[in-house]
Amino acid sequence: MMDRILFQDTTLRDGDQTPGVNFSVSQKEELARLLEDAGVDFIEAGFPAASPGDFKAVQSIAAALKHAGVTALARANEKDIEAARDALCGAAHPRIHVFLALSDLHLKEKLNLSREDALDAIDRSVRLARNYCDDVEFSAEDATRADRAFLAQAFRRAAEAGASVLNVPDTVGVSTPAEFADLITYLKNADGLRGKCFSVHCHNDLGLAVSNTLSGLAAGAQMAECTINGIGERAGNASLEQIAMALKVKRETYRKEFALDTKKLLNLSKTVSALSGVPVSPTAPIVGANAFAHESGIHQHGILKNRKTYQIIDPEDLGLKETSLVLGKLSGRHAFSEKARELGFSLEKEQLEEAFAAFLQLADRKKIVRDDEVEAILEDQRDARILSEGFHLTAFQIQSNSGGMASADITLSKKGKTLRDAATGTGPIEAAFHTVDRIVDRKVVLDAYRIRAVTEGTDALGVVQVKIRYQEQSFTGRGVSLDIIEASIKAYINAINRALFFTEAGK
Ligand code: KIV
Ligand code: ZN
Repeated sequence: MMDRILFQDTTLRDGDQTPGVNFSVSQKEELARLLEDAGVDFIEAGFPAASPGDFKAVQSIAAALKHAGVTALARANEKDIEAARDALCGAAHPRIHVFLALSDLHLKEKLNLSREDALDAIDRSVRLARNYCDDVEFSAEDATRADRAFLAQAFRRAAEAGASVLNVPDTVGVSTPAEFADLITYLKNADGLRGKCFSVHCHNDLGLAVSNTLSGLAAGAQMAECTINGIGERAGNASLEQIAMALKVKRETYRKEFALDTKKLLNLSKTVSALSGVPVSPTAPIVGANAFAHESGIHQHGILKNRKTYQIIDPEDLGLKETSLVLGKLSGRHAFSEKARELGFSLEKEQLEEAFAAFLQLADRKKIVRDDEVEAILEDQRDARILSEGFHLTAFQIQSNSGGMASADITLSKKGKTLRDAATGTGPIEAAFHTVDRIVDRKVVLDAYRIRAVTEGTDALGVVQVKIRYQEQSFTGRGVSLDIIEASIKAYINAINRALFFTEAGK
């Protein structure tokens, strides 16, 4: 008999804590819908007390989802729990997730709480959460560095107060698989905790998050908390796709079943990467561009005879067609356009022809063209299209004075048409960006601006990178010039061209 385990995805909460990542409300809604569609059991949608944006995201996800549970995080205090309750009102399957750190280090240094006070806080906060919601999860933050007997006592208090799920986080990613399994076994057998539902939540500081999660599940935990692509604080969380595929490929070892549709993992990974701006390493397991690529001649030979020689994962489990994996010089237009579609590109006939010609040139030199190489060809093609369809800087003139105000006069061109305007701003860059805004006639928000010199000296080449927001999505642009104002205008136009292409012209 197989045990059924649950997935609680926390991409929208712990993943949103990845340095540099800040999903917008609409991006969170989109991801939540995809996660639900993939069959994820619970979606941790955010931390409502943390910010109005988080509150709004949890609220709208709670209202939108029908099948998946929606979880909202709260510290063990009234204000947080009430914010979670308010944000979850309207959810079909709400869950309040209360957490409190329980290691002596955290209790003393971070919270200045005695163990007794912590037990009281657990009791009070879980009871309060239960007044508002039938499903309450309690997490013992930094559980792997807490005193075991005290941890068991704390979980007992949480269970007695009505918590339905007891989560054991390896908050700082310090555990090993054997230690973690041992901890779960200890807790599951502790007095008053037999038969309780345990969850595991592992961070990846030592690269062991997935292994620790699998060990926790093997030891009897019933739920895994994880993120798509393993994004999250510091080195991230356990990756959902790796856990799911390990359970699937090693089914006879783990003997666990789950509801998640693994065919949806690649699209989830791509979407999270695109919306978070965190790239997936080509060598990442399961979702990396090379996960099904075979470089050495010996491997290629084996694979062409029988996939199992060097490939333990059945590509069909990820929704990939077995035959579509290997492209070579004998692959025709049809196979190439299938591959383009599979990689998420929809190019027009002409662009596809050009990309196919570039592919053939490469395929002539190599026996097999890997997916990441095909992707690079298609991206080149798309960038060329963005460039040909977008705005170009033709001329500019800036005047600034010692009072700080500046004015800009800029000429752009688009598809042979000349567009000129002028505007002012505090400083030359602001004046230039205001002028570009007027010309492109769109509401764009500048989120980040970074400038650096590539070389030293007064003739240094300046590289400007900007991040803009358009229609709730983020886009980046880069400009290079000896003149930093020119580099800035180019970067800004570049980001706007990408924004318009992706939001108005399709991929
Ligand atoms: O890592 C952690 O301890 C957490 C808790 C809030 C569950 O994210
Ligand atoms: Zn965490």
